[in-house]
Amino acid sequence: MAQLWGGRFTKETDQLVYNFNASISFDKKLYAQDIRGSIAHVMMLAKQEILTETEKQQIIEGLEGILDDVEKGKLEITDKYEDIHSFVEANLIDRIGDAGKKLHTGRSRNDQVALDMKLYTRDEIAQIDQLLKTLLRTILGIMQENTETIMPGFTHLQKAQPITLAHHMGAYFEMFKRDHERMRDISKRMNTCPLGSGALAGTTYPLDRDYTAKLLGFDGPTLNSMDGVSDRDYLLELLSALSIVMMHLSRFCEEVIIWNSNEYQFVEIDDAYSTGSSIMPQKKNPDIAELVRGKTGRVYGALTSLLTTMKGIPLAYNKDMQEDKEMSFDAIDTAKGCIALFTGMLSTMQFKKDNMHASAKNGFTNATDAADYLVNHGVPFRDAHGIVGQLVLYCIEKNIALDDMSLEEYKAISPVFEEDIYDAISMETCVNKRLTTGAPGKAAMEQVIQIYKQYIREY
Ligand code: ARG
Repeated sequence: MAQLWGGRFTKETDQLVYNFNASISFDKKLYAQDIRGSIAHVMMLAKQEILTETEKQQIIEGLEGILDDVEKGKLEITDKYEDIHSFVEANLIDRIGDAGKKLHTGRSRNDQVALDMKLYTRDEIAQIDQLLKTLLRTILGIMQENTETIMPGFTHLQKAQPITLAHHMGAYFEMFKRDHERMRDISKRMNTCPLGSGALAGTTYPLDRDYTAKLLGFDGPTLNSMDGVSDRDYLLELLSALSIVMMHLSRFCEEVIIWNSNEYQFVEIDDAYSTGSSIMPQKKNPDIAELVRGKTGRVYGALTSLLTTMKGIPLAYNKDMQEDKEMSFDAIDTAKGCIALFTGMLSTMQFKKDNMHASAKNGFTNATDAADYLVNHGVPFRDAHGIVGQLVLYCIEKNIALDDMSLEEYKAISPVFEEDIYDAISMETCVNKRLTTGAPGKAAMEQVIQIYKQYIREY
């Protein structure tokens, strides 16, 4: 057991208590951030003449040596230490002696851990954001190639009106675009440096907090030291933003699973992204999509867990906050993995365009357009709705599509129909007449695609 705080104690900590309290098994993930923060702290201490230049040099060299050794696998972070902060400090003192004991001047583990976690989260958000960018690019690629790929659009999972694959994909582009914007907002709001908050009440040393903040790439220092050590809002924001990302991925996966089913056959997931069955030789299962859908629960769990942990904590730091880490690490890693895997699956997936087209055609998705045809010929909409209802019933009985009826059959139900009904209800007309902004018509879609291209360029 290596503790930083033994002085006041006369008895050894009970081993079970020690284990329960220790965080090294998971906060070792923060070693690089911890060292980076310490280097900035020491540079500031020297600038303020709280440490000498020589001490600064010695400490920085020592810290860089530790970082290097950990990265090269020469130094193992073992659970001999209570947490990552103790590990770094103890190793520093081992290496450089007394100067190492000055590292913690004007600092508490409370502001130290607050900083480490912020540095970590900020880097992770940048990575998540890049993964989202690749996903958006993949979606945009599919859109550009499929402005004429007709498929049924659904409401209530019932075929509703014809759309295009580009249009369907565009809906997800919008969702992940908002996710990107949420990431950007969080990074912006969280970018203040807690170091220098001390345990809760700042410190009596003349620290230059602006300088430390600048060294670490923050916009400035946090403005309340009690909040500085106990704010975990940025993690909650990230976990909620990740929950939304996962919800989007999960919806998309659900569709992929449906589209990939034997009944639909709208897509075929690439072999590299499918798995087989140990007993049924014919099977090719969409396990990746199912796993992404399933892992959504884990990320929601992390959000609920941290919200619950935080809700009863009085100011300022309390040990409960140590519980912010495992859940956040897991949620971040899970979301990153899911975005990457999903992107891979999507970019290798084959779209069976003929099946999509046939499904749109055989599902009466042009019924609204048949009614609009009548309206354009002077029939009131409510009557038109009724007439087309009769047409649909007739087709269901004969097991044909609206397009397959003869003009005589049409006229028998309403004399208003003429030869041009066929063009009016063709899938292509149905889609391409829909030209309001955001609609699936090719011309409208192409305008949106231009906006998306620009969006990716400026990302
Ligand atoms: N392991 C602790 C955490 O993650 C570090 C801060 C400890 N501070 C303290 N006063 N016990 O929150």
